[in-house]
Order: sequence, then structure tokens, then C-alpha cells
Amino acid sequence: MMNETFTIAGVTFRNRVLVASGTFGYGDEVPELVDADKLGGIVTKSLSMKPRDGNPAPRIAETASGMLNSIGLANIGVQKFIDEKIPKLSSFASTVIANIAASSVEEYCAVLEALDPFKVVAGFEINVSCPNVKEGGLSFGTDKVKVALITRELRRRTKKPLIIKLTPNVTHISEFALAAESEGADAVSVINTLIGMAIDIRTRKTRISTITGGLSGPAIKPIAIAKVYEVYRAVQIPIIGIGGITSWEDAVEFLLAGASAVQIGTYNFVDPSAGVKVAEGIKLFCEKQSIGNVGELVGAMEAQRSLSVIESWL
Ligand code: DHB
Repeated sequence: MMNETFTIAGVTFRNRVLVASGTFGYGDEVPELVDADKLGGIVTKSLSMKPRDGNPAPRIAETASGMLNSIGLANIGVQKFIDEKIPKLSSFASTVIANIAASSVEEYCAVLEALDPFKVVAGFEINVSCPNVKEGGLSFGTDKVKVALITRELRRRTKKPLIIKLTPNVTHISEFALAAESEGADAVSVINTLIGMAIDIRTRKTRISTITGGLSGPAIKPIAIAKVYEVYRAVQIPIIGIGGITSWEDAVEFLLAGASAVQIGTYNFVDPSAGVKVAEGIKLFCEKQSIGNVGELVGAMEAQRSLSVIESWL
């Protein structure tokens, strides 16, 4: 039997394919569209303490092989999540990770403490890298001291897996991964969206109300792979690779670069069952290659280190 599972801090995921925060709602809206139980896990939309309306429209724009978004952390708030979503999530076979976004260290802690008692919340992914809000967001994620501080404070408050989602909008992402690891993070998610911008040449207006937005989709995949590789060489904790995955082949690329698991994000808007298909594709690939455990692929790219021109800073 092929072993598709993997474990973060004692929590087992049935396979290595999760759906990314913000692309699958709170996990309860898609049951007719996709058999979510076949996913490794579901990461729910970022939760803040109070409900948020998010940014004004337009907040999504399509670009070449990508998507710009500036949702502004629209969400129902932690109390409504507890009252209305947690009861529905309890019947899920796949692992549920709650993503948290906040504008202060205190708010991160309060949201985590509110969710921690619920068994169905298996772990936390901490969004320190939303590019679309004035307070918190990127101002945390681009400051190593703040990433370390948030990780430390949250670590004291939960025994569940603590995953820090890192932004690529920095010079050396591995330094941020090290900061999270040194304060007790169990894993890092690599990468969040890249800051991008697009202008409608006829109206001369930006295509996103907040002028810039977060770029995702296949356009960012090679960047994401390079960031996963950089982080893999720097830390011991598992990496969850994210960025433009549309197929199982893309996912295997991330695994070879050093990701222990992957998340499917933007492509869920094209095909909500993409995650299930990617997981099945990885399984078949491993069976054909006589690989008994998908984990054998993690970091297993052929070493060509001497050829790397970025060796000096990796
Ligand atoms: C939002 C957008 C992102 O790209 C992200 O990583 C997190 C949050 C948002 O605007 O809600």
C-alpha cells in the first residue's frame, strides 16, 4: 500500500494536498462540488476577531496566467465561525487548519485562544503576509522581529500545529522561516501572494481598488519553487509549498524542491476538485515509479548545487 500521509507535530494528514486559505471558503460550501474528504486538508479563510467587510470592489482582476486580489481579509469573524461553521466541519474526514489574520499580536492570540479548544480545528496557519490591509498584514510579515514575536506568543498558547505563512515580498525568505522555526513554529507555508498591479489603459484606472493586490496563479509558480528550495536549505521544519499549482506534475515539482506538502489556491476557482485530482495524480505517479511513500520525493531533486549562481545567498 502506498503511503500518502504526512504528519506535522503529531497531526496526520491523509495525503499531501491541501486547499489554500481564501480559495475554499470555510470548507462547508463545496460539498456538492467536490469530495473534500479526499483532500489532505482544508485551510479555512483567514479569521479575525471581529467580522470584516474587506476592501471595496473591484477586488479581483485576471492577469496573464494569474490573478490579482485585494479582498482585504473579508471574513465572518471568529465567533460566527465557531457558532455556524465548526459544527459542519466536525463531520469532515480531512484535517481542518484554521488560518488567522490580525492587526495586532493581541488579536492573533485572542483568535487562536478562541479556536484552540475545538477538536475539529487540528492546527493553525498564521497569515503574517496579507498584502492588502493597512494594519498588520505585510507590515508583520516583512519584519523578522515581529514574525518571531507572533510565533513566540502563539506557541505559548497552543500545542496544536503552528504553521507560519510567509510572504515572498522580502529579499531572503529563509531568514523569516528561520525566525519562525527558532520560536517554535512546526511548519512554514511558502509562499503567499506577490504584490502586483494592473491598469486599464482605457479608463486609466487601476484594475484593483486598492491600486496594488496580491498576485497568484501559474504566473508565480517558478518564484514559489525557488522560495521553497531556499527555505528547504535553511530550516529543518516541514514546508508547505504554495504557488500556481494546477496539476499533479506541478505538485511533484514542489515536493522535489523540498516541500513536504502543497496547497492548491487560485486553481480552485477554475476547478474546485483540483486538489483531489492532484492527490490522485501524485499517488499514481508514485505507484508507477515504485515509490512506496510520497515522502520519498521531498527534497529529492538531483543535486546541482555547484551550478547555482545564487549559492552565495542561499
Ligand atoms: C488576502 C489576500 C491575500 O493574497 C492573502 O494572502 C491573504 C489575504 C486578502 O486580501 O484577504
